Amino acid sequence: MTASPTLIALDAVSYAYPHGPLVLHDVHLQVRRGSAMALLGANGSGKSTLMKLMAGALQPRSGQVLIDAIPATYNRSGRTRARSLIQLVLQEPDDQIFGVSVRADVSYGPTNQGLSEKEIAARVDWAMERAEITDLAERVPQQLSYGQRKRVSLAGALAMRPQVLLLDEPTAGLDPAGAAQLVHTLALLRQEGTAIVLSTHDVDLAYAFADTAVVLHDGGVRTGACGEIMTDAALMERARLELPWAPLVSRALGRTVLRAVDVAAPPQTSE
Ligand SMILES: Nc1ncnc2c1ncn2[C@@H]1O[C@H](COP(=O)(O)OP(=O)(O)O)[C@@H](O)[C@H]1O
Ligand SMILES: [Mg+2]
Repeated sequence: MTASPTLIALDAVSYAYPHGPLVLHDVHLQVRRGSAMALLGANGSGKSTLMKLMAGALQPRSGQVLIDAIPATYNRSGRTRARSLIQLVLQEPDDQIFGVSVRADVSYGPTNQGLSEKEIAARVDWAMERAEITDLAERVPQQLSYGQRKRVSLAGALAMRPQVLLLDEPTAGLDPAGAAQLVHTLALLRQEGTAIVLSTHDVDLAYAFADTAVVLHDGGVRTGACGEIMTDAALMERARLELPWAPLVSRALGRTVLRAVDVAAPPQTSE
């Protein structure tokens, strides 16, 4: 079996904001096609910064970011290339929504790519359907709820048909039903082959959704399978994170508790 191609690779990446201390130090990371990754860390640990580096939106102080095996460049053409492969959904939808209507907003990216009207319409319809905002197409974004605006910003990213979707705290501020709806959407996108990277404080969401966990602390990252990294109590404590409940319950029961993403069909009862 050959491994899926690497779409984003960070090689010894360090970053500091102008006149600031190092936020990230010597980070190595790979995002493969169709994978699901969760970035976990306390407030200020560098999750949003890491996402912007992965998106090719921030230039590392040292080290290199490879996007689909080509070193990222930070001029106009480099950023255009990055955006055609990778889309970052910011935590605050209002930082990303500019259109006078939902449809206009979602159309913005593909229109700037110079696609035909027909292709733009097809992408926008698909993106709105995936984000479950088709019925909001003609609405004014500013008049929508926070959760609806979050879905508009997701649709705007999807309309670019990215191979990697980065979502910064996608469930922050959503109610449980809204969060569940989003996870369902992300699972569907992943089935269709999109690699998903999300940052979150919600360790249970991360454990349920992702294969790979990236724990940020002290400017560094620890990366590995969720089942390995997120059950490392000492690491999670150092990173000021709770332990997810599912592996704790599994251990207590002496058997594996299925993760939401693994449950394509209803779980078989063991009785
Ligand atoms: N635009 C900025 N200018 C200067 N410092 C920043 C900026 N954005 C974030 N930082 C600092 O970088 C560190 C990491 O922030 P951030 O990536 O936002 O962390 P997180 O998303 O995990 O909360 C923090 O110390 C924060 O204060
Ligand atoms: Mg953040």
